[in-house]
Amino acid sequence: MNPRHFISLLDLSGDEFRSLISRAIALKNNRDPDYQPLKGQVLAMIFEKSSTRTRISFEAGMSHFGGSALFLSPRDTQLGRGEPLQDSAKVISSMVDCIMLRTDKHETVTTFAQYSSVPVINGLTDLQHPCQLLADMQTYFEHRGDIKGKTVTWIGDGNNMCHSYIHAAMVLGFTLNIACPKNYQPLASIVDAAGERVRFFDTPLEAAQNSDLVVTDVWASMGQEEEQKQRELAFKDYQVNAEIMKAAHSDALFMHCLPAHRGEEVSAEVIDGSQSVIFDEAENRLHAQKALLEFLLCNKPR
Ligand code: CP
Ligand code: NVA
Repeated sequence: MNPRHFISLLDLSGDEFRSLISRAIALKNNRDPDYQPLKGQVLAMIFEKSSTRTRISFEAGMSHFGGSALFLSPRDTQLGRGEPLQDSAKVISSMVDCIMLRTDKHETVTTFAQYSSVPVINGLTDLQHPCQLLADMQTYFEHRGDIKGKTVTWIGDGNNMCHSYIHAAMVLGFTLNIACPKNYQPLASIVDAAGERVRFFDTPLEAAQNSDLVVTDVWASMGQEEEQKQRELAFKDYQVNAEIMKAAHSDALFMHCLPAHRGEEVSAEVIDGSQSVIFDEAENRLHAQKALLEFLLCNKPR
């Protein structure tokens, strides 16, 4: 039987997403050191790109659950010397219980999933970052309750985070207002599938009107460092600042997956201000992914 993977938020139903959030909140609020459902189990983590939050949250989460995590970089494995993905997926999955990958190309993760005999988790690709959305949505639910019917605003790059926000809007039933510069729009194939869940605006100010949550991300993602200067020009009118937050509802939250660049995509006043929940969001990576690991490996979401 094919294992259950977590490659995209579209792999979850709305009920499953909500039950993961409830479970993450329960795990956060009642940590029981004797609860070790993954005792003796191993998570392999393959990182082609840097990470602070994703690595630490998965490693700590496995440890809390009585298991362990292996950090593997292509530099130190045969993957970096061109061993085929199919062979690597078959070999690694024969020795561990779950595999998490952070890769440049999304297809690397989907190929791994195709050949892996254990669950594969997408820990970020050029296309999507679904684990971050588990944490973001947990954070919204904790602060404001269910997000169904609410309005979320995405400002900035139509990147992997934006794509996963579009997917979350589809699965959880909120409206996503998007303001991105002309040449930095999210992929049409992802947008088209979302139908009326997404709306596009010419300016960040218009997109933020009556919003319940404002979200942004860096202007240059990992791997785009050499485009930094050109992107600074393209995105200069796309900063989330006090004026933008004022257009949103007075109780709107601000989120950012981190790492952030104060003074670029967000002003210091907003990211360090009272509407910002970035550190809850970061901490919730741990709790949300513990719920995910339990869901995939124990098959008993509660
Ligand atoms: N938000 C996020 O995925 O952070 P890291 O790159 O530090 O893992
Ligand atoms: N869009 C960013 C997210 C980092 C967590 C990147 O891909 O670098």
